[in-house]
Amino acid sequence: MKNMKNMNKLSLLLIMAGAFVITTSSFTKAKTIKTVKTNASAFVIPQDDQASAKYPNGARIYQEKCFACHQVTGLGIPGAFPPLKGSDYLLADKKRAVQQVLNGSNHEITVNGAKYAIPMPPQVDNYQDAVDVINYVLNAWGNKGGTISVDEVKDIKIIR
Ligand code: HEC
Repeated sequence: MKNMKNMNKLSLLLIMAGAFVITTSSFTKAKTIKTVKTNASAFVIPQDDQASAKYPNGARIYQEKCFACHQVTGLGIPGAFPPLKGSDYLLADKKRAVQQVLNGSNHEITVNGAKYAIPMPPQVDNYQDAVDVINYVLNAWGNKGGTISVDEVKDIKIIR
């Protein structure tokens, strides 16, 4: 009987110790996540005020979804993510660019003479958002790519 009591005490102690470890580790985790978040939001600065003002929804989508790969500068990452700033591929075909954000792509493409082969997942699920973000990138970072309208892209099949 006395042994049982001791056992109970021991398991209570163990549970308390476990709870302490869990609390401490989740506290440390929360702290880490918070730091990362702060850094990330400090990093998302609109780089092109004119294009951001003209295409606010597009700029918002860019900062939310595209910048992680194509970067705030629109320069991408050489060898991995192609540039949008000054991209001959982007500027050659606006409708293909809209299709790119709606359906993604998974084939080798050549941008400004360099080959890229990492797949890009679909980013947006409707014509308006797709047109808005493409109009933004067509005119951000000094690009002079013109604009495209929802009417011009409505026949693109959205594949899910
Ligand atoms: C996960 C990384 C990633 C994200 C997020 C991403 N892209 Fe891409 N993007 C790529 C890769 C990789 C390619 C090359 C795809 C291929 O080879 O099939 C590409 C290609 C492109 C191209 C055609 C090539 C060029 O450089 O002109 C455009 C336009 C483009 N992305 C726009 C966007 C836009 C706009 C967004 C946000 C709505 C976006 N991407 C989000 C990785 C990404």
